[in-house]
Amino acid sequence: MERTDVDQRTYIMIKPDAVARGLVGRIVQRFEDTGLHFERLEYSVVTAEQAAANYMEHVGKPFYAGLIDYITSGPVVKMVLVGPDAVAVCRKLMGATNPRDAAPGTIRGDFGLIMDANVVHGSDSPESAEREIRIFF
Ligand code: RTP
Ligand code: MG
Repeated sequence: MERTDVDQRTYIMIKPDAVARGLVGRIVQRFEDTGLHFERLEYSVVTAEQAAANYMEHVGKPFYAGLIDYITSGPVVKMVLVGPDAVAVCRKLMGATNPRDAAPGTIRGDFGLIMDANVVHGSDSPESAEREIRIFF
């Protein structure tokens, strides 16, 4: 991904398993520590429509139904973070999709254990970020 010092936005969501486990404060702290600026920070429940729109690219995959059930199963914390390379900075902080492959020190590496409940969501490109922000706010 091309690096830029121009501000970029990313959409981050603390997933239901992490909210239920009482990890919100520690996870928000990790994002705050990067120096990125919080444009939005909100607790809410994801609707079926929002979940379907967010995970459009995964329609038809074997894990799709479980993914939708899971992300709508309880409250989440939604955030919009702004700053230089916000998308890549947050993806790096989150770690690999499968928490067992995620490096120690990353959010998934430190707090996650299973692929289906991998603690956080983060946009994978600036274009996805803008699309996801429109879905969730
Ligand atoms: P996310 O969108 O949640 O930030 O995760 P990601 O970009 O790292 O991964 P993505 O490929 O977008 O997958 C979305 C979520 O679907 C579940 N998944 N399961 N069983 C599987 O092969 C599989 N692949 C993906 C994960 O929970 C992942 O976060
Ligand atoms: Mg993704």
